[in-house]
Amino acid sequence: MINKWFKHIGLVIALLFSAVCLANGGDELATQVQQSDAQIWAQLKDGAQGYTTSQSEFHAQPINTYDLRVLALRSDWLAPALMAALFGMIIIFVLFIKVNGISKLHHGFSGKLVHRWSKFDVSIHWLGAIPCLLLILTGLTLLAGRFFFQPWLSAGIWEAIVYGAKQIHDVMAIPFMIGWALMTTLWAKNQLPKMYDVKWFLVVGGYINFGPFKGKHPDAGFANAGEKMWFWAFALFGLVISASGMLLLFPNLFEPSRTLSLIALVLHSVSAIVICAFSIVHIFMATVMSEGGMECMVSGYCDENWATQHHNLWYDEIKANGTLKYKE
Ligand code: HEM
Repeated sequence: MINKWFKHIGLVIALLFSAVCLANGGDELATQVQQSDAQIWAQLKDGAQGYTTSQSEFHAQPINTYDLRVLALRSDWLAPALMAALFGMIIIFVLFIKVNGISKLHHGFSGKLVHRWSKFDVSIHWLGAIPCLLLILTGLTLLAGRFFFQPWLSAGIWEAIVYGAKQIHDVMAIPFMIGWALMTTLWAKNQLPKMYDVKWFLVVGGYINFGPFKGKHPDAGFANAGEKMWFWAFALFGLVISASGMLLLFPNLFEPSRTLSLIALVLHSVSAIVICAFSIVHIFMATVMSEGGMECMVSGYCDENWATQHHNLWYDEIKANGTLKYKE
């Protein structure tokens, strides 16, 4: 009987002993793995080379550590700037409209609609505008999502969002570029700067409803000075974002150097920030700020009172040369 008890106690001691040994051994193993990870990582960062059958430039180097300043630039400046360009501009505009109010039609709606944009113009506007909005949202996810959205989401949901964002971003680039090319070439002649544009800026387009600006109606042709500024920013940064985007999307076709790829990455983000901030202003102006303005890009017509209040020189011109056309 005593023998049996000794056997049991011996077994328990042996089990406890082996558990302690295993735990110590596990700790040691984990430390060894960490050390070798750190070693491998250090070697990779020093440009360690492996073997591959590829013949392309830097083919044997497993990771790209060419210029890590770009990573810091993206996380510290570009990502927060794109967030500010979207959400910051929305907040600023909402506050501005709360304080200032919108620009009403002083004589109300006349009910007479004047032809302003052709059906083709309206179509190319939306061909460029809808992809542009999707590109802004998916681009924001790809650039800033990791820092601002990922911490709040589960791994599975975040992976699905990033995957979807990448697919949409790549596909939408094509209609955006077609819309951009058509709008910039077909509309440029109406967007050339004129001397009276300076006065438009000096009174902020007559959109301020208090102080010395109240009730001002600066001269404007087919496009006012603010619209011209948006148009040329869209033309220039649309070109930069399209060219840099193509380099990034088709590296095998254009074979950019590492330096050019990194420059393209930075220029792409900077252009996105500018286009995003301008787009928010543009959308607020069209939908909320300027009473009656939205009709232009729905039917292609505008109310006659909207035309005389916001684009007096254009209205006078089409009336004088007989091209004024009303909606039947
Ligand atoms: C919900 C979004 C948008 C709305 C409601 C909207 C509305 C409008 C309206 C009403 C006009 C005509 C203004 C006029 O006749 O004077 C216009 C013009 C224009 N839109 Fe948009 N737009 C939107 C988004 C965009 C986006 C994302 C882009 C960029 C791809 C864009 C590019 C332009 C350009 C270049 C013009 C001509 C310049 C100007 O008149 O401002 N729009 N838009």
